[in-house]
Amino acid sequence: MRTVPVLWMLLLVIAASMKTYAQAQPSIIPGEIWPDTEGKPINAHGGGILYYKDTYYWYGEIKKDSTWRVPGSTWENYRVNAGGISCYSSKDLLHWKYEGVALASEKTDSTADLHISKVIERPKVIYNRKTGKFVMWMHIDSQDYLYARSGVAVSDKPEGPFQYMGSVRPNGNMARDMTIFQDDDGKAYHFYSSEENQTMHICELTADYLSHTSNDRRILIQQAREAPAVVKYNKRFYLFSSGCTGWSPNAASYATADSIMGEWTQHQNPCQGKDADSTFHAQSTFVLPVQGQQNIFIFMADRWNKTDLESSRYVWLPLIFDAESMPHILWKDQWTIE
Ligand code: DGJ
Repeated sequence: MRTVPVLWMLLLVIAASMKTYAQAQPSIIPGEIWPDTEGKPINAHGGGILYYKDTYYWYGEIKKDSTWRVPGSTWENYRVNAGGISCYSSKDLLHWKYEGVALASEKTDSTADLHISKVIERPKVIYNRKTGKFVMWMHIDSQDYLYARSGVAVSDKPEGPFQYMGSVRPNGNMARDMTIFQDDDGKAYHFYSSEENQTMHICELTADYLSHTSNDRRILIQQAREAPAVVKYNKRFYLFSSGCTGWSPNAASYATADSIMGEWTQHQNPCQGKDADSTFHAQSTFVLPVQGQQNIFIFMADRWNKTDLESSRYVWLPLIFDAESMPHILWKDQWTIE
């Protein structure tokens, strides 16, 4: 009689440990499904990361349900209904807890920027120490990509909910793929692909990060770069980007500048090894400095699955600067931060 409960206990222990095993992510595995702490695939594409009070917050596009091609489009304009922006939190960059929808899309008003029929992409969140607000900027567009604007939303908490404030064309310019860079002095800059994606712009944001100043500079003129991701290393600024080939991958490149509003010089592909010419079948979205480490950065990219966008994957790779401060991104089948 006593063996039955013991057997049940044993089975329960085995089942519990199997569940933990299924959910645990022992290392970063680029290109594989990345489960959150509940075992569900992380849904945070074109994302960016905020580090706040010992915690990393990952914000990204929610891509769910079926993918369809915009009728009449002359290019591979595949879309899902805009699902809004998700938020995940983590202490170790490996185990991510789903915090919910940080910015919801709009189901009824088809004229709204956040309507499910629109494009809501590449969210980036920074914290404003002076106002105590979390500020999210993102690319807002119409299905044909002619709206070309930047949207802004605000929250009192990192996980949201964020309140949408509206969208702009910075200083009257078209604005598509984008990132936000917050410098050590607290100033924040909006990098955006402009002028029909031919030329990148950098614009300094106002002190509250909610609008654009007139300090707006054209860089990488006529070089057709998008998917910007910016990092500062050894007092120099690095801007990683992709070419403009829709959802299909291409070779990354990077540009450098000694002053953010100064001269930017374009360099070659920082990726090395097999599949470097397609950025390992992925496209840049963010470069994350690992807290407490001198020379460890994570190059975050999206491996888009254009005909099934929900199945797009994340390619996170170590980005290392060499003795000449040149960046290198190398493929790893799997790796850990240490
Ligand atoms: C490339 C951009 O980088 C993506 O964010 C997305 O807008 C696709 N184009 C759409 O084709």
